[in-house]
Amino acid sequence: MTIVVEPSGQACGAAVTGVDLTRSLDAVTVAAIRGAWLDHHVLSFPGQELTDDDLERFTLAFGGFGDDPFIAPIPGRDHVIAVERRADETAPLFAENWHSDWSFQDRPPAGTCLYGVTIPPTGGDTLFVNQHAALDAMPAGLRSRLEGMMAIHSARGGYAPDGTYGDADQATDRSMDIRPSDAATATQLHPLIRAHPETGQLGLFGCIGYIIGIEGLPDEAARELLFELYHWQIRDEFQYRHRWEPHMLVMWDNRSVLHRATGGYEGHARLLHRTTIAAG
Ligand code: SIN
Repeated sequence: MTIVVEPSGQACGAAVTGVDLTRSLDAVTVAAIRGAWLDHHVLSFPGQELTDDDLERFTLAFGGFGDDPFIAPIPGRDHVIAVERRADETAPLFAENWHSDWSFQDRPPAGTCLYGVTIPPTGGDTLFVNQHAALDAMPAGLRSRLEGMMAIHSARGGYAPDGTYGDADQATDRSMDIRPSDAATATQLHPLIRAHPETGQLGLFGCIGYIIGIEGLPDEAARELLFELYHWQIRDEFQYRHRWEPHMLVMWDNRSVLHRATGGYEGHARLLHRTTIAAG
């Protein structure tokens, strides 16, 4: 198969056609998709009627399954979670803050695959922001303050019992099966600026939210620097707005982009199935 890659024209992202993801992919096609993924950081595959078996097979073509904590997998699967919202749901939106998936892990997932099962007629876009472009364009003064710094990542703000999805959230009508835990208080260091493990391209990794501090800096100074970084790294010119269609698969590179969910589909259901691709 010869894939066709059409760049979004925005700061990252491309649509891929000319491939049937209901079939096992040959090595040449996997290499072509991987190359496009490394170039564009976010790939969408429209018009793919996939089962969960297809989604799992696609994920495994690009690495093992990542470890997905704090969210129960869907019944009958160990590695597929549902990103779900009922039409009448009132719980706060899931994943509305910028993040790189599970960046608080020792070896965060290289990528994430998200498949659109039920897509609302309006709203529910996913935003991505290119962290190589953000670093390349960064003012030298800010960059020099980040170089060599190690960020302290943790899931505590989200998934600890007192976090966003903690005990109070369990009392809402959220349809997603989120399981808060004290394990979320663990911390993990990663460089704020790091080389992409496959391409070597330098980029920013993570943002305030899962980053709760900077090693060696007092809390207040770290917070100020993290907010200054945040305002830079999410600027519009580094963004790609992904508009979903039913039966569309998206894979993104957590080592290159931050992402976040958006609302705007009140009164409509939204359901996507998600897997993560383990670090290589
Ligand atoms: C996610 O961060 O996995 C969900 C993104 C979305 O719902 O658009």
